[in-house]
Amino acid sequence: MATLIDGKGLANRLQEELAEKVAQMKEEHAIVPGLVVILVGDDPASQVYVGNKERSALAAGFKSEVVRVPDTISQEELLALISKYNVDASYHGILVQLPLPKHIDEEAVLLAISPEKDVDGFHPMNMGRLWSGHPVMVPCTPAGIMAMVEAYGVELAGKRAVVIGRSNIVGKPMAQLLMDKNATVTIAHSRTQNLPELARSADILVVAIGQAKFVTKEFVKEGAVVIDVGMNRDDNGKLCGDVDFDEVEPLASLITPVPGGVGPMTITMLLEQTYQAAMRTVNI
Ligand code: GUN
Repeated sequence: MATLIDGKGLANRLQEELAEKVAQMKEEHAIVPGLVVILVGDDPASQVYVGNKERSALAAGFKSEVVRVPDTISQEELLALISKYNVDASYHGILVQLPLPKHIDEEAVLLAISPEKDVDGFHPMNMGRLWSGHPVMVPCTPAGIMAMVEAYGVELAGKRAVVIGRSNIVGKPMAQLLMDKNATVTIAHSRTQNLPELARSADILVVAIGQAKFVTKEFVKEGAVVIDVGMNRDDNGKLCGDVDFDEVEPLASLITPVPGGVGPMTITMLLEQTYQAAMRTVNI
C-alpha cells in the first residue's frame, strides 16, 4: 500500500501561507502582486486551467486579470499585447496559456515575454539559467513536484530517477531539477526502447506523456515513488492520469492521485513565483 501524496492539501497550506505574505507585502511595501494570464481561443481544457489560476490568485490576494482573445488574433497583435504588459508595473507575472493556434509562432511569443515577468519559466533566458544551475523562474509543474517530494521527505541524492516525457514544460526542466538534487536522471520518450524495463530501474518515476493509464505495474519497481503529471479522461469519461493508479498503487511507496496531486501544486508555484517577481521589484 502506497502513501498518497496529498498535493491538494499541501497546495492549500502553501497558498494560505502565501496569502499572509501577500498581506504583509501590501502593508510593508504597498505592493500587490499582479498576474495576467492571456488565453487565446476557447480550448475547453485551457479554459478550466485558466479559471483555476484566476480563482487561486484572487483568493491569495493577488491582482489578477485574464485577457481572453479570439483565436483569429494575429501574431503581431498578440506580441503587442505582451509588450503592453511588459511595461505595466502593476503586473509582475505574465503567462500566455499554451497551446497556441497553429498560425502563431510559440517560440516568438515566449521570447517576447520579459524574462523578469516570465512566471512560467519558458523564456530561453530562464531555461538557460535553470540548465546552467542558477534557476530564477522555473516551469511550475516540475517546481511543484520538487516541493511535494521535499515535503514528503523523499531522499533524492544518489537515487535513480526516470522521467517519461521530454517536453519543455515538464520533462526537460524536471530532469534538471532532479539532477540539481543529485539524482541520476534518465529522460525517456516515445522512441525509448524497453521502456517498462528502464522505468522499473527508477526509485523515482515521473510520468508526463499525456496518455491515459499508460504506466502499468510492469513499469514500476516495488517501493518506487510515482509522480503522475497526466490529466486525461478514461473510456468512461472519468478524470485519470498517465498512470494506471489501481494497478500501480500497491507497488509504490508514495504516489500522487489524479486529480488532487500535481495539478494544485502547479498553480501554487505560479503564484509563488509571481510573488517572488513582485518582491524583486521592492527597493530597486
Ligand atoms: N499549458 C499546459 N500547461 C501549461 C503551463 O504550465 N503553462 C502555460 N502557459 N500553458 C500551459
